[in-house]
Amino acid sequence: MKVLIVYYSMYGHIHRMAEAIAEGVREVSGAEVLMRRVPETLPEEVLKKMGALEVQKGFANVPVCSVDELASADAVIFGTPTRFGNMCGQMRQFLDATGGLWAKGALVGKVGSVFTSSGTQHGGQESTILSFHITLLHHGMIVVGLPYSFQGQTRTDEVSGGSPYGASTIAGGKGERVPTENELAAARFQGRHVAAIAAKLTK
Ligand SMILES: Cc1cc2nc3c(=O)[nH]c(=O)nc-3n(C[C@H](O)[C@H](O)[C@H](O)COP(=O)(O)O)c2cc1C
Repeated sequence: MKVLIVYYSMYGHIHRMAEAIAEGVREVSGAEVLMRRVPETLPEEVLKKMGALEVQKGFANVPVCSVDELASADAVIFGTPTRFGNMCGQMRQFLDATGGLWAKGALVGKVGSVFTSSGTQHGGQESTILSFHITLLHHGMIVVGLPYSFQGQTRTDEVSGGSPYGASTIAGGKGERVPTENELAAARFQGRHVAAIAAKLTK
């Protein structure tokens, strides 16, 4: 049973969350995890001006995803930073190249799940995940979130990402915040949860 984690990360927060998602997937016996980045669409000079080039070198070893790889997975967990309350353009462009898969119904019945990151606490994490789900539903995927059995999402003693829609982290206005232990635990839970459901579906 194959779980594909497909993400875009500009400053590393989504990459760190993707690693935690992968840890959770690996806890399910028989689950194979593959980590992939979606292709970059911004020119190098723009990335340099945005201060992303150096950070991105840290995960340049993660292979770039092809759309066909989606079809060979049993579950796909997508990670995207928030851009104006929506997924980032790099992810949108990648998904807009999946029309051929849609025409064949190649993703129908596979598990789909989403995690995110935003600069500010109320900057659109939920809208990003929920609007992403629309694309997964058009593909006929079975949408899975982060159930309240992950109790960490009920915490009010500290600022934390994580909602019934999926794991998330708050990066801070300058990207200075790193994912907290609670946010990483949410990501591990989501990875494990998706893999456990995919395992049942592929029995
Ligand atoms: C063009 C642009 C739009 C953004 N829009 C939002 C937004 O609507 N709300 C928010 O909280 N953060 C916003 N951010 C901040 C990003 O979400 C943040 O940098 C990202 O979550 C960090 O994840 P990463 O390190 O994986 O790239 C925006 C950033 C950029 C560059």
